[in-house]
Amino acid sequence: MNTEVRDPRDCKELEALYELRWRVLREPWQQPKGSEMDDLDGDEGLSWNVAAICCRKVVGTGRLHRCSDREGQIRFMCVDEGYRNKGLATAILRHLHAKAAELGMVRIVANVREQAKGFYLKRGYTVAGQAHTLFGEVPHVRMLKDIEPGQ
Ligand SMILES: CC(C)(COP(=O)(O)OP(=O)(O)OC[C@H]1O[C@@H](n2cnc3c(N)ncnc32)[C@H](O)[C@@H]1OP(=O)(O)O)[C@@H](O)C(=O)NCCC(=O)NCCS
Repeated sequence: MNTEVRDPRDCKELEALYELRWRVLREPWQQPKGSEMDDLDGDEGLSWNVAAICCRKVVGTGRLHRCSDREGQIRFMCVDEGYRNKGLATAILRHLHAKAAELGMVRIVANVREQAKGFYLKRGYTVAGQAHTLFGEVPHVRMLKDIEPGQ
């Protein structure tokens, strides 16, 4: 599988990335289009998206935003069902960690779905506690990871 993990290049890729977010993270809970975005999307100085592209299709994505000078948060990690367990989310996370390090961040926080906790544990995150429950039925866990410059 020839897949590239990189910043989205244009509006078309960005739209495809939001569509994937909605399809994986919102549609199964009957959430409307638009609910997959927050106020930081589109703010180039505060949030950074990554796309995994296969045959010109966006098949995975994740986003970093700045919480403070030294801390960033990762949100909206998702991979199209047919492309899972091929290392794409790992590559997306690596790309986001590198971006965070480049921006001077030393710590990443992520409120992750309970069912995805194992993925983050394998990637060096530790559990900091319980987080919110999304849509009244998707429990989240707060996880942390320290990153080194250039990691
Ligand atoms: C979680 C998700 C992003 C992982 O994407 P992926 O591209 O399949 O992940 P990778 O292929 O990089 O890594 C898979 C690895 O994580 C492990 N893994 C994936 N989900 C896991 C889970 N729920 N619990 C434990 N381990 C898990 C796999 O066993 C595999 O381990 P390995 O590298 O030792 O073989 C993907 O399953 C997804 O989109 N899920 C639905 C949306 C979601 O829950 N997003 C997370 C929101 S916080």
